[in-house]
Amino acid sequence: MSKLSKTFLTDQVLDFVADSITAQGYVLLEDFLPTDLALELSIDAETLSKTKFKTAGIGRNEDKQLNNDIRTDSTLWLTKKMHPQSTYITLMEYLKQGVNQRLFLGLSDFECHFSHYRRGDFYRRHLDAFKGRSNRLLSTICYLNKNWKSNQGGELVLYANPQDLEPLSKVSPDFNRCVIFLSEVFPHEVLTSSSDRYSIAGWYSLNNNMPVYVDY
Ligand code: OGA
Ligand code: MN
Repeated sequence: MSKLSKTFLTDQVLDFVADSITAQGYVLLEDFLPTDLALELSIDAETLSKTKFKTAGIGRNEDKQLNNDIRTDSTLWLTKKMHPQSTYITLMEYLKQGVNQRLFLGLSDFECHFSHYRRGDFYRRHLDAFKGRSNRLLSTICYLNKNWKSNQGGELVLYANPQDLEPLSKVSPDFNRCVIFLSEVFPHEVLTSSSDRYSIAGWYSLNNNMPVYVDY
């Protein structure tokens, strides 16, 4: 482990993440990343959003479709080519190791994209994964908005169950706050944002090559 990841992902933080996921299926972390890194990522997101982000789709691969009734944000997948994106992915891979050591989840891949919600953008209620149809297990969202005010909207709303109307939790997209939750368990939505809102949404998946168990 590098010096950076050791000071950022202490045993105490990793225990807290693992214990919270076990107890309630999700965890909220304040001041998650080293501040410099969060700042660099926010600048990167803002700069690239001007030219490189694409209107987000829903579904994957051949099922992919644009659906502006469901989501209106724009996204860009992070790559390992350069800092600060590479540093973020590396740290999230250390987090994966720490969680795997504690919970034996067998998380394997990590993929993530920047999201940009402009004024008026939203993402209606959805699940990031459907049982048996995806290998996404844990969703991670890290927010990059300095001085976010409550009247700017854009909250992430988590629901405990698909049929629930009452939210389980409402999370304002404050700078360097991170939310991690079980992808198949929590329906969630992003309320209409009244200002530019930046985040990194990521997913830990199970290995695609894992054996598939069938009932006889
Ligand atoms: C997503 C998502 C939430 C957020 O991209 O799937 O739910 O708060 N994002 O940005
Ligand atoms: Mn989502």
